[in-house]
Amino acid sequence: MRPENLKTKLFLDGGDPHETKEIIDLLGFLDGQTTNPTLISKNPNARKRLEQGDKFSREEIFNFYHFVVREISGLIPQGSISVEVYADASTSAEQMMKQGREMFSWIPNAHIKFPTATEGLKAAQQAVKEGLRVNMTLCFSQEQAAAVYAATLGAKRGNVYVSPFIGRLDDRGENGMDLIANILCMYRKGNAHVEVLTASVRSLDHLFYALKLGSDIITAPFAILKEWGQKGLPMPRNDYVYHGGNLKAIPYKNIDLTKKWTDYDIHHELTDKGMEKFSQDWNALLK
Ligand code: E4P
Repeated sequence: MRPENLKTKLFLDGGDPHETKEIIDLLGFLDGQTTNPTLISKNPNARKRLEQGDKFSREEIFNFYHFVVREISGLIPQGSISVEVYADASTSAEQMMKQGREMFSWIPNAHIKFPTATEGLKAAQQAVKEGLRVNMTLCFSQEQAAAVYAATLGAKRGNVYVSPFIGRLDDRGENGMDLIANILCMYRKGNAHVEVLTASVRSLDHLFYALKLGSDIITAPFAILKEWGQKGLPMPRNDYVYHGGNLKAIPYKNIDLTKKWTDYDIHHELTDKGMEKFSQDWNALLK
């Protein structure tokens, strides 16, 4: 059962509804799920089909994603399910929006994931105007989070998430958890319309520290939520301290949140790399 002092929403990061079911059975609750092209490409039914040498047409893969998302949505009807648009370096905001509108109609509880890059931010700005809920993915810097804030200004709280990817920063020697702390601190100066969704979680310590920091949402892979559940859903104690080890600290920047989103330095090489990998994994499913 949900720990009484757990205020943060907990999501599963995955593309297999069987895992969703198992986590709900183990924890007794689940607040939502995030999916992405890589996770969908790892879905056991997609893998089975590929092993038989049977790739998907564009229409079939879109239908497959729709089917998976509908199943997950049925298991977490009160939660939020993040569905990601296909976006490579040449995908325009209009193309992202076209997919986003369609995906948003798949289930009643979707957040549409757009990359935190120029075209993705343009799409997000338009999406919130049209009443779509969005989750800005592949965020790696405080500036990018400021741009998400500015591009979606006017949206209702709950309709906009920003997903800083901490594990991928750790992978290159930077303390990803610092980014969560910095964005939460920066957003305290604003109107709180953007919720911080800690993503790319790799360990129970990431989970504990994100809980301690008061991240609005955390998405964690099956193995981490399972470990947490099997340990009895422990919460970080008041004296919990996160140790970044040898990871390089990411210093807080004093960023003014009142600028136009286009005035922030939104480029980050890990966003580009992330888009490339997501699109490669997606394209590998195609005939
Ligand atoms: C979040 O929405 C992403 O799907 C996810 O957390 C990415 O994690 P990874 O860096 O382990 O791929």
